[in-house]
Formats: sequence, structure tokens, C-alpha cells
Amino acid sequence: MLRVAVFASGTGTNLSAIVDAARSAPGFFAVALVIVSRADAGAGARAAAAGIPCAHISSATHATAAERDDAMLELLAAHRVDLIALAGYLKRISPYFIARFGKPILNIHPALLPEFGGQGMYGCRVFEAVLASGAKASGVTIHLVDEQYDHGPIVFQEAIAVLDGDTVESLAARTQALEHRAYPLVLRRIAEGEIDVGGGGSDRRSG
Ligand code: GRF
Repeated sequence: MLRVAVFASGTGTNLSAIVDAARSAPGFFAVALVIVSRADAGAGARAAAAGIPCAHISSATHATAAERDDAMLELLAAHRVDLIALAGYLKRISPYFIARFGKPILNIHPALLPEFGGQGMYGCRVFEAVLASGAKASGVTIHLVDEQYDHGPIVFQEAIAVLDGDTVESLAARTQALEHRAYPLVLRRIAEGEIDVGGGGSDRRSG
């Protein structure tokens, strides 16, 4: 059983999709912990409704970046987390945190990286940029996190057509529907050993 922590800053629809998938096909992965960077993130309410341990960690709770990193690392260890799935988490993951965690960290991005990614490219800005570019395709990317925003090896990518007359809202809705299928699928494939993201010491066979 792959024990996943979801990190989120916003609404948490990907969190819900992951939780629902974990519960409807038990035995592959479970959400062991949710960390939110805002006290009012919808993801926090979703975690509470699902009965999943959730912590708010931000500059409001811990003054320095080092304290925040250490608090998160402590929680991840306490909940025996094998893998982190960033889902709309807007804080940068520090090199210290990546090194100390030592296990895979995934991120989902609502476009076909390396296009339309990087610092500041989140939410509607991504869809606005896709539409402004005239691109005929967009999609979803899931990648391993490294020290740069929206960078790191891609583990999953799927395209959707950009339609004539698409608006930010219509493109966002189709992209989000794809995200909600893709993230659970990738987590299941990792749990089954079909996608290799490096284990970094996770013990998926012990349940
Ligand atoms: C998603 O579009 C994801 O790709 C991006 O942030 C958004 C989070 O949405 N990184 P939600 O909070 O899961 O609804």
C-alpha cells in the first residue's frame, strides 16, 4: 500500500478525486495525510470531511522556512508517507526538503509542460496563456518535483484538443476532468510498479 500525502493550497478537487479513487479501489494507495498552506483552503475542509489527518503549515504557523520544512518532515515521518502528491500547492518545495524527504514528490500541471509552466503560471493564467498562444492542443502533465517550478522528469502526459470558441472556463473544465482521471491513475500505476519513480525507501509491500 502506497501511503500518499497530498499538499494543496486551493479548492482541493484533485484531492477529492484521489481520495475517492483510493477508497473505491482499496489496496493500492491511500491518502495518509493532507498538508495545506492556507487555513481557509477548501482542501482542508475536504480532508476533514473524509476523516483524513490534515495540517495547516505556513508562515502563519511557523516563522521560518526551515521551521516549516522540519514541521512537514516530522508529520510525513509520523504518518509513514511514501510519496507526496502536490495538487494545487503554491509554495516552492525547498532543496533541503527534497533532500531530507528522499522519496518521490509529484506535481500536476494543467498544461503540456514544458510549455505554459514556471513560477506564476497557475490557475486561470495557464489557460489564458494557452488560448492566447493559439495552440491547438493542451492537456495535463504529472512530473517529479525538483528545485524549479514545473520542472523535473515527466511521468505522465495526456493531450486534449483546444476547440474553436474555447474560453478559459471551458478549457479549464475539460482539463480538470482529465486531471481527476490522471492523478489517481498515475498513483495506482506507481503502487503497482508500472511507473517507476524511484522508491527512496518506501515499503509498499508491507501494507
Ligand atoms: C489544478 O489545476 C492543478 O493542475 C494545479 O492546481 C489546480 C488545483 O486544483 N496545480 P484543485 O485545488 O485540486 O481543485
